[in-house]
Amino acid sequence: MSTWIFGYGSLIWKPNLPHIEARWALLKGWERRFWQGSPDHRGTPEFPGRVLTLHPNPTVSCWGMAYCLDPQHEQATLAQLDHREKAGYDMREVLVHTTQGDLTAWMYIGLPENPHFLGSASIKEMAQHIATATGPSGSNRDYVLNLAEALGERLNPKDDAELHALDAALTHPLS
Ligand code: SIN
Repeated sequence: MSTWIFGYGSLIWKPNLPHIEARWALLKGWERRFWQGSPDHRGTPEFPGRVLTLHPNPTVSCWGMAYCLDPQHEQATLAQLDHREKAGYDMREVLVHTTQGDLTAWMYIGLPENPHFLGSASIKEMAQHIATATGPSGSNRDYVLNLAEALGERLNPKDDAELHALDAALTHPLS
C-alpha cells in the first residue's frame, strides 16, 4: 500500500522528500493558520517564528500537495519528516481530493495543546512578528511569500484569508 503525505505549508514548496508522485490536493473543512511557533526553522527558542498549522472550519478548504513516498526510502523519509516537524507537530490521517480521485494521506498538525502553539493574533501583530523573525531555515517572511507564490491562483481570500492578508502586508509594508 502506498504512503501519501499531505503538505500545506513548507512541504508544498520545499518538500525535500523522495516521492514517486506529487498532486495538488484539496482538504475540506480545515483552514491554514499561522498559529504555530517555530523555534527551530523560522525563528529561535527566544523568538519563535510564526508558521502554519491547520484549524477546523467547516466552511473552507485548504489546498496542499499530496506526495506518494518512494517505497524504497519510506522509513527513512518518515523519520526525516518527524525530525523536521518535531517542534510540536502530531501526525493525523486525512482524506484529500485530487483530480485523479480521493486518497488518504498523513499530515502534520500543531494542536493547541502543544508547547510551541502561539494561537491567534491580529494581522498587524502577526505581520510585524513575521517580518522580524528568522531562524536556521531562513526568514519567517520568506516562509509566507514562498507559500503564496507556490499556491498561485489557488490562493483565494475566502479560504485563505490569513495568508492572503499576510502576503499583502509583507509584500507592501505600510512603514
Ligand atoms: C506542512 O508543510 O505541511 C507542515 C507545516 C510546515 O512544515 O510548514
